[in-house]
Amino acid sequence: MAAGDNTTTGETLSAALAAKEVEVTCFPEELREECDALRARYETPRAALMPLLWAFQRRYGYVSREMERVIAEELEIPLIWVRETVTFYTMYNQRPVGSHHVQVCGNLSCTLCGARETIRMIEEELGIAVGETTADGRFTLSVVQCLAACEEAPMMQVNDRYYGRLDRQRVREIFGGLE
Ligand code: FES
Repeated sequence: MAAGDNTTTGETLSAALAAKEVEVTCFPEELREECDALRARYETPRAALMPLLWAFQRRYGYVSREMERVIAEELEIPLIWVRETVTFYTMYNQRPVGSHHVQVCGNLSCTLCGARETIRMIEEELGIAVGETTADGRFTLSVVQCLAACEEAPMMQVNDRYYGRLDRQRVREIFGGLE
């Protein structure tokens, strides 16, 4: 979940992903209680930024530019602080993603253990390239930086779960076991 870019810019959203877009133009009431609790927990509004971004992503699946503005206004912090946080951490999706967000580690330990080949293999299995989403909206494939599980290299994260020591058979089993 460190620095990187899990967003393909300029790509037109498929119908499946476009359907997941939400319009948020003011602070959502359903996140009010959580936001107030975060504001009370931390000494500065900026310290509440990352958990509040996460709350938005849990609720909507991603953090849009409009949501960034809403959050900046709510916390009364510069918009650029929100923007730089969202674009630094790959854990924040900047657009809707498939039901299963496959994030393959492309960092050093995983690369030494075959991450490049693993990424190509997963592209073949899913029939999409990195940055793309399957037409049915089930899978989005991203490459991210170290997932802090180097001992399991090569590894990937699918939504909130980690999977290591990947080979084609294991990947097929993992994907086959998903809804
Ligand atoms: S380099 Fe892949 S998990 Fe650390």
